[in-house]
Amino acid sequence: MIKLDKVDKVFPGTTVPAVDQVSFQVDEGNICVFVGPSGCGKTTILRMINRLVEPTGGDIYIKGQKVSDKGVNPDYLRREIGYVIQQIGLMPHRTIEQNVALVPRLLKWPEDKIKPRVKHLLEMVGLEPDEVAQKYPHQLSGGMMQRVGVARALAADPPIMLMDEPFGAVDPIVRGRLQDEFLRLQKEMKKTICFVTHDINEAIKMGDHIVIMNKGRLVQHGTPMEILSNPADEFVKDLIGSDREIKLLELTRSEEIVEHTDEIPEVVNKKDCFIQAIDPVQRALETMMKKDSDLVGVRDGESFIGTISWEDIKKHINRISGDQA
Ligand SMILES: Nc1ncnc2c1ncn2[C@@H]1O[C@H](COP(=O)(O)OP(=O)(O)OP(=O)(O)O)[C@@H](O)[C@H]1O
Ligand SMILES: [Mg+2]
Repeated sequence: MIKLDKVDKVFPGTTVPAVDQVSFQVDEGNICVFVGPSGCGKTTILRMINRLVEPTGGDIYIKGQKVSDKGVNPDYLRREIGYVIQQIGLMPHRTIEQNVALVPRLLKWPEDKIKPRVKHLLEMVGLEPDEVAQKYPHQLSGGMMQRVGVARALAADPPIMLMDEPFGAVDPIVRGRLQDEFLRLQKEMKKTICFVTHDINEAIKMGDHIVIMNKGRLVQHGTPMEILSNPADEFVKDLIGSDREIKLLELTRSEEIVEHTDEIPEVVNKKDCFIQAIDPVQRALETMMKKDSDLVGVRDGESFIGTISWEDIKKHINRISGDQA
C-alpha cells in the first residue's frame, strides 16, 4: 500500500542526512508506528510520503504508483492522504467547522455535502457538533483540539492517514482515552495509517507494525511482539525500557496460556480471583497480586474455562523473551 525504497533526505545546507536509506512497507488497513528520539526523522518521513518534502534519493510508492515523481497531482494526494500534523495545527482564525471542512472545500465538494460530513465527523471523534462547530480553536481544551485534528484529517475519507504525534499534547489519561477511541474507530475504518510517536508504549499499543528510527536510520521493524521479544540492539533495548517482560504480558491474551479444566479450584472461588479469557496476561498477574492468590480462574463470558498459575506465567515469559531476558 505504501512503500519506501532506500529513501534519503539531505536538507539544503546540511551534510548529515535527516533520513538515510530508509526502506519499509505498510500493508493496507494496518497501523505502522514510527518511534524514536527527537530529530530522528519521523516527521520528515511523513512529509515525504505526502510530498511536502522532496526526497533527495530513493522512491516512494502509494498503491503501486510512484509518488516521488514530479508529475503527481496534488489533489490526488489530498484525496488519498489525511494528515494530522504535529502540534495539531488548527487555523486559529477559522471556526472548528471551517477547519474540518478545509480539504473538502479545497477539493470543491458541494456545500450541501460538506455540512453533514463535518457534523458526522465531529460526532465520530466524540465531540458535540452543536457545541463546538462555531467555536474557535482557542476555546477548546487540548484533548478536544486533538480530536478536531483527527476529524479534519478524516474529512475527505482518505484511505491513508499520516498522524504525527496526534495525541501528544494531552495528559496521559486523556491520551489513553483518545488511543482507545481511535483504535475502536480504526476497527471500522480500516485505514492505512502511518503514526508517529516518541512514546514506545503508545507504539506498542497502537501499532500492527513498529518502525524504530535513530539518527535518520531505520534500526528495527516488526510487530510489537517481534520487537519486544527480540530487540535488535542496545538502542532498542533502552527504548523499550526495563519493563520489557511486563509489556510482553500486555500483548498476550490470557486464553493463550490458560490450562483448561472444568473444575473451579477452591482457592480461586474462595478468593473470588477471576479474569476474562480476552484479558491480557498482565491482568492475570495484577489480579493474583490483588487477591493474594497464586492461581487465577479464567472465564469466557459466564463460563469457566480454566486457570493460570504463577508458574504458567513464568514459563510464558521464558518462552517469549528468549535469551534476552
Ligand atoms: N526544513 C528543514 N531544514 C533543515 N533541516 C531540517 C528541516 N526539517 C527537519 N530538519 C532536520 O532533520 C532532522 C529530522 O527532523 P524531523 O522533524 O523529521 O525529526 P522528528 O523525528 O520528527 O523529531 P521530533 O520528535 O522532535 O518531532 C532534524 O535534525 C531536523 O533538524
Ligand atoms: Mg516530528
